[in-house]
Amino acid sequence: MRVLGIETSCDETAAAVVDHQKNVLSNVVFSQLEAHQAFGGVVPEIGARAHLEKIEEVVQQALRQANVTLEELDAIAATCGPGLIGGVLVGAVMGKTLAAYHKKPFVAVNHLEAHALSVRLTEDVVFPYLLLLASGGHCQLIHVKALGVYEVLGGTLDDAAGETFDKVARLMGLPYPGGPAIEKTALMGDENRFKFPRPLLQKPGFDFSFSGLKTSVLRTVEGLGDLSCQDKSDIAASFQKAVADVFKNRLKRALDHLPHIEHVVIAGGVAANQYLRGHLEEIVAQHQKSFVAPPLQYCTDNGAMVAWAGLEHFQTGHQDPLTFKPRPRWPLGEKAE
Ligand code: KG4
Ligand code: ZN
Repeated sequence: MRVLGIETSCDETAAAVVDHQKNVLSNVVFSQLEAHQAFGGVVPEIGARAHLEKIEEVVQQALRQANVTLEELDAIAATCGPGLIGGVLVGAVMGKTLAAYHKKPFVAVNHLEAHALSVRLTEDVVFPYLLLLASGGHCQLIHVKALGVYEVLGGTLDDAAGETFDKVARLMGLPYPGGPAIEKTALMGDENRFKFPRPLLQKPGFDFSFSGLKTSVLRTVEGLGDLSCQDKSDIAASFQKAVADVFKNRLKRALDHLPHIEHVVIAGGVAANQYLRGHLEEIVAQHQKSFVAPPLQYCTDNGAMVAWAGLEHFQTGHQDPLTFKPRPRWPLGEKAE
């Protein structure tokens, strides 16, 4: 069984072909980074237009590299939300059009669910598992009970984790996207120089809050005036340590709450951060659980995770009507209308 997956919900135009034996036959990702970099973040209008320009080429490349024709596909999956609606529309319409023309089943994929299941494409992780989903738009702690059954234990009250990396990077004059820039800058830094707050650490529950941490970095940057390279490295390292402490605290609490859980998974763009992965692995090992994270190329947005999520649902007999409306907001686990 071979499924084409299309992803256009943010700033990557991506397509991939994946089969039921977990072979990624192709995985083409075109990053719009250059188009957005001058603005320090994603500009939705520019993004939508750039997706439109690239989508055909990216899909064709994915099919060519996989050595598969559209006729040979078993289903076509496309991210239909949540995300920037202009971009989501481009991918969803492309997927539906191909499905209609070639008479193939269509699966509307929830982008968050694609991240949530991405680990199952490369690792043998069975349900249930505890998931920390940290991306540019989300930060949630989720009990993944079964395919399509998700209990959100907690989420962010303000900024998403990746968004915080992006904003903090901007404060220090580092390029977009902030995550990789901060991770690199932090390598030469002293993580104990600045004592940034760890919001909500003393409060019960599983929610996150990052705006206080961001403001504290802003005050520090303002206080220092002209930042030296060492200042930037020390701020980046101290900031990352604060994020790691918050993540560890939340995970520890969730593991105490769900003692039967065997696997802890981190997914989403922020999961590409090696420093954070190391810290989380440590806390999970202390609980004698297994820690699993997708390979880096499947952490940030890609078509393979969309194809895989589509395939998992299609294998259970699910498909969506071509009248499916793309959704800018689409909470994880909510049935499509
Ligand atoms: O999952 P993703 O590609 O797109 C969304 O669904 O949002 O996540 C993008 C986010 C950006 O905010 C980016 O700064 C962050 O993931 N990110 C990272 C790293 N690589 C990407 N954050 C921390 N460390 C990284 N190495
Ligand atoms: Zn994403």
